[in-house]
Amino acid sequence: MWLKNRFVQKLGGGWIESFGLRTWSRLQLASLGARKDPEVLKLMRGIQRDKRSLLSAYEQHIVYALAKAQAAREGAFAEVGAYKGASAKLICEVKGDKPLHVFDTFEGLPEASEHDRDVHRVGQYACSLENVRQYLSAYDNVHYHKGLFPDSAADLPVQPYAFAHFDVDLYSGTLACLEYFYPKMVHGGLMLSHDYSLLAGVEQAFTEFFADKPEEVIDLPTTQCLVFKL
Ligand SMILES: C[S@@+](CC[C@H](N)C(=O)[O-])C[C@H]1O[C@@H](n2cnc3c(N)ncnc32)[C@H](O)[C@@H]1O
Repeated sequence: MWLKNRFVQKLGGGWIESFGLRTWSRLQLASLGARKDPEVLKLMRGIQRDKRSLLSAYEQHIVYALAKAQAAREGAFAEVGAYKGASAKLICEVKGDKPLHVFDTFEGLPEASEHDRDVHRVGQYACSLENVRQYLSAYDNVHYHKGLFPDSAADLPVQPYAFAHFDVDLYSGTLACLEYFYPKMVHGGLMLSHDYSLLAGVEQAFTEFFADKPEEVIDLPTTQCLVFKL
């Protein structure tokens, strides 16, 4: 665990993280090239070139495929933790005319808790709302909620959700996502989180929250986990 924390600290937020991720993603894209839809790969390569994503290519593909699978189901889409808008763009590509609610401080990470093992800095991953709005300007029905989640959802009418993507890195934010979205997910709705097997606080939030729920937290071979709402 100490080694994992040191590894995440070294990677976090700087050029090592983005260079490492881009190199890793190039290899993953090459391996996907032989078997996946060329149009999807073109989209993912474009996002790699934009240098906005903190997800590996496999992780991007999972976001894309799950969002696509939910597009015909009743309910809105949401993402908490957009950074520069890369994963939100993947969701936008397949959401059709569904609303997508994008939540972020747009000022980077908030304060961590003792569960987060000191691997992040306040303000890390800051990107302005205007920058993200511009990046996603081609897509309709995208709604931005600036501020600390869940406070930033206070004015949003309660509605059903078919797909929710969480990428907030920290224990409190992840727990807040689960508390807010779980009761609003439709049956068969999907909650996907980044960093479940990488960041202790994210895993802790899922473990605590689902301790008394019937759903299983599915640990994917990427850093992500998935919950299928019963
Ligand atoms: C790792 S980045 C997200 C990466 C992004 N999904 C991508 O496609 O590259 C984490 C983001 O979560 C946001 N964040 C963390 N905790 C938050 C909270 N409680 N409320 C709103 N935004 C939060 C940060 O501002 C940051 O932009």
